[in-house]
Amino acid sequence: MRQAGRYLPEYRALRARATGFIEFCLNPELAAEATLQPIRRFGMDAAILFADILLVPQVLGQRVEFGEDGPVLDPLVAGTGIAGLSRVGFSGLDPVYETVRRCRAALSPETALIGFAGAPWTVATYMVEGGPSRDFRRVKAWAYHDPEGFTELIELISDATVAYLSGQIAAGADVVQLFDSWAGVLPEAGFERWVIEPTRRITARLKEGFPTVPVIGFPRGAGLLYQRYAAETGVAAVGLDTTVPAGVARDHLQTRVAVQGNLDPVVLLVGGPAMHEAVREIRRDLGGGPFVFNLGHGVLPQTPPEHVAALARLLAEPADIA
Ligand code: CP3
Repeated sequence: MRQAGRYLPEYRALRARATGFIEFCLNPELAAEATLQPIRRFGMDAAILFADILLVPQVLGQRVEFGEDGPVLDPLVAGTGIAGLSRVGFSGLDPVYETVRRCRAALSPETALIGFAGAPWTVATYMVEGGPSRDFRRVKAWAYHDPEGFTELIELISDATVAYLSGQIAAGADVVQLFDSWAGVLPEAGFERWVIEPTRRITARLKEGFPTVPVIGFPRGAGLLYQRYAAETGVAAVGLDTTVPAGVARDHLQTRVAVQGNLDPVVLLVGGPAMHEAVREIRRDLGGGPFVFNLGHGVLPQTPPEHVAALARLLAEPADIA
């Protein structure tokens, strides 16, 4: 999950040095520094590359801007399909690979570097809605009304994602994560076609080139469909959102894949005994199998950095897996 960001004063100072957020992401010196800041402060076991899932629409030729209220894109329209997009801009992501090289060189060998991209469905939601959405009616209407045309968009994003993640791995990422933040808004048939299927194909193609590099999938909000996702996509691990019961993850997911998660970011914001208790329960339920402790979603900007430090200290103590 996001570990850099506005909750850190040193991040805000660095952010002020770049003109726009995209320029920040594409500046290897600044992006490498943003990646390393949380590791220096808290000593996590893994660093997550500083970039954004919306760099992919940008290199496909869509205008992407970050305003005060999040990203704004010139929305694609169903009738026109992917006519305005192109594959020629992929080299626009080269600065990200340079960021990966710098981070890998700066990190100790024991600290893993996680690369990432958005999963095609989630990236498509932003491309079609033009930004965050409440009801996803434009992107869903396109997918339901013109599944073949929508598949062309999903395949274009998938191709870009394979190229992008391959570039990150070649540059030194040890593991890659696919963020499907809006996987949870689809019914089962749509989930199968727009979440499971593209993820399965991306994972298979990455495995051909890089058989030992694990892929983590994060189908946020997938609920009962987490099980199908873990069984059918070929991912080595799943990120659990905050609502997945740890006992269910232990009995039905950890039997097949590693799990990552899933402390509520608001519990981290609150800190104190509530955090100690929640962390203890997660470690008790999941610590017996393949497990990476994480949040269930990114760190909120209002989070006191001291709470993250307290969490890191807590996790350095052995878990009581009674
Ligand atoms: O540690 C890290 O920060 C890793 C880098 C990272 C960012 N975005 C940087 C970022 C990662 C892994 C992401 C993923 C991402 N980006 C997702 C998937 C995960 C999720 O949060 O669901 C999504 C949906 C996006 C798209 C996006 N980027 C949105 C909707 C926003 C605005 C909302 C917000 O929290 O500000 C962003 C901006 C963004 N991406 C920030 C950061 C640190 C904050 C912007 C800033 O500092 O100005």
